[in-house]
Amino acid sequence: MTQNTQAFDYWIRSRFVELNNKLERLYCHQADRANVEGVGDDLKAQLESEGRELIVSLLAEGNTDEGFDHAFDLLGNVGLYMAACRRHEITEPSRERVSPLTEASALAMHIGASIGVTPRFATAHLTTHNRAQQGLYKRFTDLDAEKLFVDYNTKGILAYKRAADALLKIQPLGIDHPIAYDLLLVAKQALRDVIESNRVLFQQLDADDFFYCVRPYYKPYRVGCQVYRGANAGDFAGINVIDMLLGLCSANEPGYSQMLVDKFLYMMPEDQAILRDCMRRSSFMDELLNMTHLSHESWYQQNVKLFLEVCALHGETAIQHHNELVAKYIAQPAKAMEQQHMSKVTASGPPLDVLLNSLEKLRDRRAAANRSDIGTRYEDIQLLKSSLETE
Ligand code: HEM
Repeated sequence: MTQNTQAFDYWIRSRFVELNNKLERLYCHQADRANVEGVGDDLKAQLESEGRELIVSLLAEGNTDEGFDHAFDLLGNVGLYMAACRRHEITEPSRERVSPLTEASALAMHIGASIGVTPRFATAHLTTHNRAQQGLYKRFTDLDAEKLFVDYNTKGILAYKRAADALLKIQPLGIDHPIAYDLLLVAKQALRDVIESNRVLFQQLDADDFFYCVRPYYKPYRVGCQVYRGANAGDFAGINVIDMLLGLCSANEPGYSQMLVDKFLYMMPEDQAILRDCMRRSSFMDELLNMTHLSHESWYQQNVKLFLEVCALHGETAIQHHNELVAKYIAQPAKAMEQQHMSKVTASGPPLDVLLNSLEKLRDRRAAANRSDIGTRYEDIQLLKSSLETE
């Protein structure tokens, strides 16, 4: 790490958090918690100029080729700064055509393009690739709600990744291999872990604190002239690896492939490679449907039964995400929010009903729901179920 990188990292971990905390306290004491206009202007000016000064030195330093990890980490720090400026409406994409954070944009674009990721902060910066120092990892604020949210996003992502890794290991063996059973068991446990960590998050996270003080840091913002959508916990390959290997979603469905195309650059390069590879492969569901004539075999009975349990658990995580997390923390507070702030609710930009609709379709594909308007694997799942011997 160069001295300039170190100085900026130190600022992000200390003064930056202090300024965000102070601003959050001011917003919180208003009748309309969503308002940020005309509040704490001196603090906002300090945030903007202190960050800019450190970034100017980094930009002048140029490409020091310190390797991927350092470049990615620095991009995250620039991104946290830009996202905070967006949250406090120091910048506002609908008000501007180019980001006024000229130096930060230049640095973010330079790094993003050179390492093959989007030039904004992504979920990995805050979760799976967020280096702790003396037990404390990088955050925007000291708020309990933010720590809880990031902790449980990280737990959820890591558990999905465990499930995906196990399923990927079945690939070279074949779903009819006896050891595929062991790997399905690992995936099953990992998906249970997702359910458990989502359950705790749903129980413990305060809906208002999340909506008013955490979510706003995940809004879209401009880098240079382009607006980049907000980060979300789904920006890793594992969830789609599970979808496609199980066969619940398919890369040749327009709605689903659109989402994949949009998320590529928001993922770490290694995740991009995994997802690309997975998009070319066939699913376990299709393979099993071609083996139903072997249903009298004991491996068939064991593996299909467990495969169906894994599919059901994956569906359960999606139902939980949509019906509990999205409903409680996004949809319900958004309804209660004043109309004037409506355009600013989601991380990715589309109006809330459009977003909810596409998340609902995703939920129903993963849950293999019985829907006639979109393709789901409902009937194929029924067919596999009927090939199982009843005890
Ligand atoms: C996407 C909300 C926690 C996994 C999304 C989106 C929203 C959302 C609104 C759509 C993003 C957009 O385009 O604007 C929430 C809320 C959470 C939460 C309110 C908790 C308070 C989690 C957790 C996970 C997760 C813990 C587990 C890893 C995903 C995934 C996506 C996503 C995979 C991408 C779409 C998909 O493939 O389903 N989330 N989320 N979320 N979230 Fe969450």
